This record gives sequence, structure tokens and C-alpha cells, in this order.
Amino acid sequence: MNTTLQTPIQIGPYHLPNRLVMAPLTRMRAPDNLPTDLMVTYYAQRASAGLIVTEASPISTQGVGYPATPCIYNDAQVAGWKKVTEAVHEKKGHIFLQLWHVGRISHPDFHEGALPVAPSAIAPKGDAVTPTGMQPFVTPRALETDEIQGIVEDYRNAAKNALAVGFDGVEIHSANGYLLDEFLRDGTNKRTDSYGGTFENRARIVLEVTAAVVAVWGAERVGIRLSPSGTFNDMTDSDPETFFVYLLGQLNRFGLAYLHVVDALEGDIRHGANVINLDVLRKAYNGTLIVCGGYDQARAEDVIAQGEADLVAFGQLYIANPDLVERFKLNAPLNEPDATTFYGGNEKGYTDYPAFTD
Ligand SMILES: Cc1cc2nc3c(=O)[nH]c(=O)nc-3n(C[C@H](O)[C@H](O)[C@H](O)COP(=O)(O)O)c2cc1C
Repeated sequence: MNTTLQTPIQIGPYHLPNRLVMAPLTRMRAPDNLPTDLMVTYYAQRASAGLIVTEASPISTQGVGYPATPCIYNDAQVAGWKKVTEAVHEKKGHIFLQLWHVGRISHPDFHEGALPVAPSAIAPKGDAVTPTGMQPFVTPRALETDEIQGIVEDYRNAAKNALAVGFDGVEIHSANGYLLDEFLRDGTNKRTDSYGGTFENRARIVLEVTAAVVAVWGAERVGIRLSPSGTFNDMTDSDPETFFVYLLGQLNRFGLAYLHVVDALEGDIRHGANVINLDVLRKAYNGTLIVCGGYDQARAEDVIAQGEADLVAFGQLYIANPDLVERFKLNAPLNEPDATTFYGGNEKGYTDYPAFTD
């Protein structure tokens, strides 16, 4: 029988009823960095997804770079997230927390005037989203070599907190131009210590973070997200294909729950991305592969039927369609996402998208 989006799949210890993943989606509706009851409703509405990956959750105050993002470094945040996982589990869903450090994609206003940190002191082009509106990015401070272990420990602590919350697993956010991705790429990593230069050195922090998180959770409950062709947040790389094939070879050793790849998006192609074909990544990686980036139902079914990926994550479609699984089953029409309510605000454009059967 053909494999489809509705074919169940085993990920680590979990039997997922379908292959639709709710992609991680920052929605900036967590005042004081605390998960809210509205977030509980939002995630519970989407619990029929085979897997939910939460919005990115900062692992430390240093890891924050947007207003109202729900963090995972203190007890109050743990208590808030607990209600989210309970509500999703009540509906038999599965939910992984995405662990985040924004690196240079931040602003001193989040850090009592201190500079954001990065592998090297190179400012991204563009503006930071701050509590008082958009402000130009500043040049970040390059991390000292001896600070890096502290960041690995922040990931470990956040992973422990996520375990205490009752998540089903965690996803390491190593995509989209945030701290870990900044170490991976030679456009943002000009270091001359053991965290820069060679492939081995550029991959080091990601592999150390992965080892730390795996030590807390076991590999079968840890995923990692990469965007090898991405240019978002002003990312560049001289030879991403060779590097990412190397990195996947290193990640293979862990036996992780999954690798989550963000395909090149239209914006990346416009910005001259070095697009890496999915089949190159598929060949280089031995485990379960989730793909994401501009998929509709037809393209997603195709990629699954061809065996090019094992699951497909949907971002904007999940914002607008809490019952995406059921709509796909019925070939029902889809709600259109409203980009003006993606970031910040209240229930409008968040929990008020109707299910098809409403
Ligand atoms: C509003 C919004 C917020 C996002 N937040 C995150 C995030 O927190 N973490 C992440 O890895 N990607 C994030 N992304 C990227 C999505 O996970 C996804 O890769 C992207 O939307 C492409 O998939 P799509 O075409 O199905 O929407 C975000 C995208 C959008 C539109």
C-alpha cells in the first residue's frame, strides 16, 4: 500500500497517527515570557497533528530576541508550559518543545543594554523586533571561547526543564540564522579558536549541544532543525552542501528522533541561496526526515509517496487550520492565514480560526 500523509509512523517511543507536523511558529503572545492559557487553547486545538513542535522557546535571558516569547529557563515558565502539554496529551497529541537561542538576532533592549552575542562581531542587515518597535540590529559581541560551555549548560538546563514540564521531546533549533546556525555558516563564523574555521570546528557547538540534550532526554526523543539552504536573517555560506553533508554524517552517530529540514523558500532563492536538493540530504542522513517550507497537500503527498521525506511540517497552513489533518482527509477547503495577526495580539488570528465542522 502507498504511504500517505495519513499513514501512521513511529518516532522514537511514539506511535504517531499521521505524518502531519505542526511546524514551530513564534506567535509572540506570551507577556513576561510566560506561556498563557490562550496558548493552551491554541495548541490543544491543533492536537490532531501527528506531532506538534512548539514555537521556539528561549533557553536563557541571553537567548531572547523578540518580545513576548515563552521561555523555558525558570519555574514559572515550566508551570505555564505544563498546562500546554497536559491539554495536548488530554487530546492524545504529541508535542516537542523547540529550544532556542537567538544569537545576534536580538537587541540590547532585551539585555539591560548589553550586546547580543554571536560567534563573531558581525551585524546582520535589517532591524530587530524590540518591545518599542523595530530598531536597527547592532553589532553583536563575539563570544569568548570559555563562555561557550555556559551556553551548552543553558541548553542542558532548558532540556531538563522541558522534561519536568512533560513534553514528549525537544527539538534543537539550529536553523534560520539564530545562534547555532550562526556557528555553522562561514558567513557569520570567522572564529580562529576551536569553534571556527574547519568543518569540525564550525559543527562543534551544535554537536556539544546535541550531546548535552541527548544526555537528558535520550536520543530517540530529540530532534534537530536545520535550514541548509536558508538565507533568512542575513545568512551566507561559501559551500553549504559539502558542509551540511559533513554535519549530517556527524549527527547520524546520535540516532536522533528526527532531522527537520527547512527547504529553500522563495525568499531564499530571491536572495541567491545555494539551494541544496532534498535528495542530497536524504542520502546523507540515516534517520527519520521531516521537511518543511511551502508545502500544500499535493506536494506533501508527493514527497511522502516518493519516499523523499517521512513527515511534512506545515507552518502557515497550521496557523489558519487547527484541524488540518481532518481537512486534508476530507479534501475540505482551507482557511487563509492572515499575516497581520501572525506576531503579537490576542485570540484574533490565533484561536479564532474555525474548524471545518464548526
Ligand atoms: C509566524 C511564523 C513564525 C515562525 N516561527 C518559527 C519558530 O519559532 N521556529 C522555527 O524554526 N521556524 C519558525 N518559522 C518558520 C516555520 O516553521 C516554517 O519553516 C515556515 O513557515 C515555512 O513553512 P510553511 O510554508 O508551511 O509556512 C515561523 C514562520 C512563521 C510564518
